[in-house]
Amino acid sequence: MRSSRPATSPRSSRSPFTSSGRSSRPRLRARPAVLLAGAAVVGALLTAGAGTARAADAPLRDLAAAQGKAMGTAVTGSKLTGTYGDIAGREFSWLTPGNAMKWGSVEPAQGTFDWAEADRIVNFAEAHDQDVRGHTLVWHSQNPSWLTDGSWTPARLGTLLHDHIDTEVGRYKGRVAAWDVVNEPFNEDGTYRSTLWYDGLGADYIADALTWARAADPAARLYINDYNVEGVNAKSTALYDLVKSLKERGVPIDGVGLQAHLILGQVPSTLQQNIQRFADLGVDVAITELDVRMQLPSDSAKLARQAADYQAVMNACLAVTRCTGATVWGFADSDSWIPDTFPGQGAATPYDENYAPKPAYRAIAEALGGTTTEPPTGACTAAYSVTGQWNTGFTGQVRIACSGAALSSWKVGWNFGAGQQIAQAWNATCAQSGAAVTCSNASYNGTVPDGGSVTFGFNGSWSGSNPVPTVTLG
Ligand code: XIL
Repeated sequence: MRSSRPATSPRSSRSPFTSSGRSSRPRLRARPAVLLAGAAVVGALLTAGAGTARAADAPLRDLAAAQGKAMGTAVTGSKLTGTYGDIAGREFSWLTPGNAMKWGSVEPAQGTFDWAEADRIVNFAEAHDQDVRGHTLVWHSQNPSWLTDGSWTPARLGTLLHDHIDTEVGRYKGRVAAWDVVNEPFNEDGTYRSTLWYDGLGADYIADALTWARAADPAARLYINDYNVEGVNAKSTALYDLVKSLKERGVPIDGVGLQAHLILGQVPSTLQQNIQRFADLGVDVAITELDVRMQLPSDSAKLARQAADYQAVMNACLAVTRCTGATVWGFADSDSWIPDTFPGQGAATPYDENYAPKPAYRAIAEALGGTTTEPPTGACTAAYSVTGQWNTGFTGQVRIACSGAALSSWKVGWNFGAGQQIAQAWNATCAQSGAAVTCSNASYNGTVPDGGSVTFGFNGSWSGSNPVPTVTLG
């Protein structure tokens, strides 16, 4: 996640990019020719028409790496199987636990720790050659009630925070490339937010937390992260002044995170200028929680506007060397926090609820230098996804959707690549012979109107692996 070091400088043995000693993936300034050689295979979405709709010519992580950047996503650890896991592993080079590393998640009762979800994400990241952005150590929200309900002297509060940072950063020492050490310290007017930490410890809780995090893992890049600091404004200027003074005082600070929870059509015009001014202070900048929300329902005009917004953010990051990359806050609309937090709004991520890439996905890929193939107009598509998976069984689903075309009956087929077997299907009649599966419509769902969709499902068995097959519709 550091982009500032000249390509010619020797790699520090403390670099988070080499700390595992295992990664062969070039993470900085790698040559496109190398990276693009392993072109992406995106098998879950095929069209019935002549053209093949591909998500992009290469996964976003490879396109980003070729630009010296990373592309990340927030994830939910328990979902990292099936189609969700396939996309998370294939497309992204950074993973941020959406909730799993927050204090309330890891220490629900004082002295009782639950690392299962965080461990799952860190293990997944290592298995997929990804970096983890740890999120977050010091925040006013999602703290355990024993902490927020307690009554603590300043000294005791400081010790609790120090121990928390020691424990969590220490546990993942060498395995988390960057930490959002402090999250959301400012009010909109640039004053410090009144929180458990500020009220109890004063503004120096920030410097102390950074110092403690550095001691617990000297290799991790240490960030302060906030929202509404994307453009030049009172809040981002307060963050700027803080970072400047921390640097002057010799407090360890490596980067700022611009969350970038954006509203459709409202990418700040000063985004690049703002990124640049932080870079000029000598810190990295990361876009840490990117999403672009809209009033539901979405329509093609809003999705096109959203694509342009995503592209504008990517372009601003690409224009500044020290902008290390962008993380989306959930990659699919079905895994986004927006509908719960902003009622009536949603559709904020690059993939739809069924894991089909949206125009925003293609816009990100194009900003990163990829060439993408638009789905042909007037086509029906079949998308296969694994919606649940356990020891030996799984539930799959195929969604047939039409846009500019319609069907009065349908038949889809695929070959299972790893010995999977269908046990039972619903909303379709399926037969399997060897690896080959064919499913055709039931009596009541052969019609797929223009702009409509039909979904059928099945239970099956698997062992070893459960790769997503390429589906044909015909
Ligand atoms: C959100 C999560 O995505 C939700 O699942 C949770 O209910 C609330 O928090 N800024 C942050 C993130 O720094 O931690 C927040 O994540 C979104 C806003």
